[in-house]
Amino acid sequence: MSKTIIISNRLPLQLQIENKTVHATPSVGGLATGMKSVHKDSNGVWIGWTGLTEEEIPANLLDDVIEATIKEQCIPVSLTKEDIDGFYYGFSNRTIWPLFHYFMEFTEFEKESWQSYVTVNEKYAEVVLDNIEEGDTVWVHDYQLMLLPALIKKKRPDVQIGFFLHIPFPSYEVFRTLPWREEILKGLLGSDLIGFHTYDYQRHFLSSVSRILRHEVGFNEITLKDRIVTANSYPMGIDYNKFSKAAAKHDATKNQSELQRRLDIHIDTTPDAKMILSIDRLDYSKGIANRLRAYEYFLEKYPEFKEKVRLVMLAVPSRSNVPQYQLLKKEIDELVGRINGKFSSVSWTPIWYFYRSMPFENLIDLYTTCDIALLTPIRDGMNLVAKEYIATRTDETGVLILSEMAGAAQEMSEALIINPNNFEEIADTLKQAIEMPKAEQIKRNKFLQKRLRRYNVEKWADDFMTALQDTKHKSDIVKAI
Ligand code: ADP
Ligand code: G6P
Repeated sequence: MSKTIIISNRLPLQLQIENKTVHATPSVGGLATGMKSVHKDSNGVWIGWTGLTEEEIPANLLDDVIEATIKEQCIPVSLTKEDIDGFYYGFSNRTIWPLFHYFMEFTEFEKESWQSYVTVNEKYAEVVLDNIEEGDTVWVHDYQLMLLPALIKKKRPDVQIGFFLHIPFPSYEVFRTLPWREEILKGLLGSDLIGFHTYDYQRHFLSSVSRILRHEVGFNEITLKDRIVTANSYPMGIDYNKFSKAAAKHDATKNQSELQRRLDIHIDTTPDAKMILSIDRLDYSKGIANRLRAYEYFLEKYPEFKEKVRLVMLAVPSRSNVPQYQLLKKEIDELVGRINGKFSSVSWTPIWYFYRSMPFENLIDLYTTCDIALLTPIRDGMNLVAKEYIATRTDETGVLILSEMAGAAQEMSEALIINPNNFEEIADTLKQAIEMPKAEQIKRNKFLQKRLRRYNVEKWADDFMTALQDTKHKSDIVKAI
């Protein structure tokens, strides 16, 4: 029976070795949480990295590592510490990530890390080629593996290959600065279908292909010598039912989770204060520092809200070997300390800050308990947290404040949309959110929920896979001419 092979840098499960045994935890991030629901219902396999380097796995635990991944229909790619330093911490997260999120000042162009990116993409190709059988479909994910489609196509031209980019594709003027721009585009063009979250990312990609590689480019097609490549936008959805059902269950049982316990203790709480939520990986693209400054400005501009609001901020540790992430952590620690120091009273702390990963139930607790979600990325491919927040609002109340720089803003116009660099606007919008009548909240969320329920992650994956199968007919026609 033919199968779908999903490939991403990170597997949906991350392995750790504690007390000489292998433990698995779920991966954080939009790609993993979204694709997990697609993978679970398929008969396919998922190829990727376990989170452990070769050096970290003792010989006697190798079988346990393989067993832990196979149990989840996954196949591990073995990477060394040197690979992770050059490919993951290097080219993926010091070159492509900042460049594609328009952080030119953080972007490093290092030949060694590029070479490591090539080597690791080749390692992935080897594992994929070992596991492909006739009739299989391949779906490659994200910016760490942009050379992979061409590496697979070269050896297996018979296989349909899809690629989905989970981050923005930047404008040609930014992309052209990359010394390896041609290689990246050629790698991607090994695909039959390339998917983006928004039409703008698709447009930027097509413009780069046309200007850099001089291929003939149409509205959503690129004509190569022997093939046609399709590029289209597919905004990723969420597993809507999983979030809404978990929220309904949570409401019914009123679990005593971390947040509830803290609220119940009443040490420094004003229990009727409006709770403003923010959840992100600790990443400079998420605009966390800006958000804190804007919140500080809000408390200065509207002092009547002191003791009446609280920002609950969850930041998940991420890529902490990259210097920019370490600096950001320090900046956030200082900002939280300064703002809390400046405004706290005996009975009130303006920011509750959690720097850790949390189990799913606690995320649901945060989503359902907070009156407002304040998500202010400077750039974000999609932002699934925005969608998850709305999905958990079972009584349809709640206000979403969302940056216009997030891909999700294009589908969520009923949210309060802000420019993350405009503190004045954020402060005024916070006031508007706090004062928004329930009827208006419900009216806005009804539309949002209806859309998110319909265009969920399953529909997203179906649309992509159907379009990928359709590209086969196109290729057959080109071959026949
Ligand atoms: P990104 O992919 O850039 O990290 P998204 O907002 O698209 O940003 O996706 C983040 C995903 O990670 C969401 O699906 C969210 O539920 C999940 N997540 C965020 N924080 C946590 C956490 N503390 N523990 C577990 N999962 C989390
Ligand atoms: C984003 C990226 C994913 C990545 C995730 C977590 O969602 O698009 O490719 O897996 O962040 O980042 P990490 O570096 O921990 O894999």
